[in-house]
Amino acid sequence: MDKLLIRGGKPLNGTIAISGAKNAALPEMCATLLTSEPVRLYNVPRLRDVATMRRLLENMGVQIQTHGERGGMSFQSMEPVNSEAPYELVKTMRASVLALGPLLARTGRARVSLPGGCAIGARPVEQHIKGLQAMGAEIRVEHGYIEASLPAGRTRLKGASITTDMITVTGTENFLMAATLAEGTTVLENAAQEPEIPDLAEMLIKMGAKISGHGTSRIVIEGVEKLHGCEHAVVADRIECGTFLCAVAATGGDVLLEHGRPEHLDVVIDKLCEAGVDIVREGDGIRVRAAGPAWQHLKAQSFRTTEYPGFPTDMQAQFMALNAVSQGSSLVTETIFENRFMHVSELSRLGANITIDGKNAMVEGVERLSGATVMATDLRASAGLVIAGLVAEGETTVDRIYHLDRGYDQMEVKLRTLGADIERVAG
Ligand code: EPZ
Repeated sequence: MDKLLIRGGKPLNGTIAISGAKNAALPEMCATLLTSEPVRLYNVPRLRDVATMRRLLENMGVQIQTHGERGGMSFQSMEPVNSEAPYELVKTMRASVLALGPLLARTGRARVSLPGGCAIGARPVEQHIKGLQAMGAEIRVEHGYIEASLPAGRTRLKGASITTDMITVTGTENFLMAATLAEGTTVLENAAQEPEIPDLAEMLIKMGAKISGHGTSRIVIEGVEKLHGCEHAVVADRIECGTFLCAVAATGGDVLLEHGRPEHLDVVIDKLCEAGVDIVREGDGIRVRAAGPAWQHLKAQSFRTTEYPGFPTDMQAQFMALNAVSQGSSLVTETIFENRFMHVSELSRLGANITIDGKNAMVEGVERLSGATVMATDLRASAGLVIAGLVAEGETTVDRIYHLDRGYDQMEVKLRTLGADIERVAG
């Protein structure tokens, strides 16, 4: 297994480009199942999860090719579509559940493996099932698979009003995609508002879907008979961008993050500015400046993760790593997932002073961390450990970085471009 070797203490300076968003590319790849016409996506990030999604779709019969520099990827799903998402592929990537809605809408049936839990929580999908049942699907869960089909005599899902028990990002995306081809109107009442959802909606509208309210908690979709092909550029990854903002804040430096969208990171940027970081929009990106190592200049910031537009749970580990080397105490509260503090024990191995009490973690900033070998446990925890390694004295080895590769496009290459002393060691 590959690992990252980091020698801490270097400031970050220069310019890097933010890649397309993992959490937009994955549903948008599934949306190509909704038409038999060619679809082309640009700005597709080079990630393990994208490669996994590609294998899943090719297994369903979608023809996929990559094109040149602009992260281009073309898709064409000809008849017959194989409506199955097998366990071997789904178990490595929960986002495979995003095939459920499009398969049902396109073929009238779907057999998708239950994703199973993951490191950060049980992550059930009962809301996805309830919503699609409201749209007329007959769904059984047996032998670890979601078996979905339309009632005899029906060839399309029907519009419905769907209110989930909690806000669910991929649940909203499944309903959005399924509703585009349903008969009648679908209203999603407490829809997720993460920027990846309006981006998916814009792609579906280019394909001929009739959608309004995307980006708010109430989305209305008028079903149509057919969708056609389109071209669409994946929105920039706000979590990758936020991760680099925290890295520069921790080490000190002056970096331009091209394509970064400050309007997608309001709460994180507000917290970083309160800490003492200088962040401004520049050109089509974001410039971030920090006077020196966080311990000398920044005040730790308390925060509580909530659904968008609140503080994103996917930024919790990274900002906690920054708090761990900033002045003062801070309280971090994780309200979305039940087990998203696994980076805490690893940060403590580097010398961080963090105490967990249920959903809360109390962080006491320390002047120095000392390099050690730490183990990545999940995608964003890995990013938090890399940030800590960039400021720790001496050498930090981050093990099991296949977690990192799932969601970051060549992170160590980008960090090295900015002056970090970091290298990948094939394991
Ligand atoms: C999406 O996961 C993201 N993944 C996650 O990013 C992100 O952390 C999460 O949204 C929250 O923002 C993708 O978009 C591919 P949810 P998702 O359904 O949709 C509970 C990353 O690091 N819930 O919004 O799976 C659930 O357990 C990943 O890039 C149910 O109980 O998350 C959680 O506690 C990690 N039943 C909460 O709701 C359901 O049927 C929010 O989950 C659905 C969800």
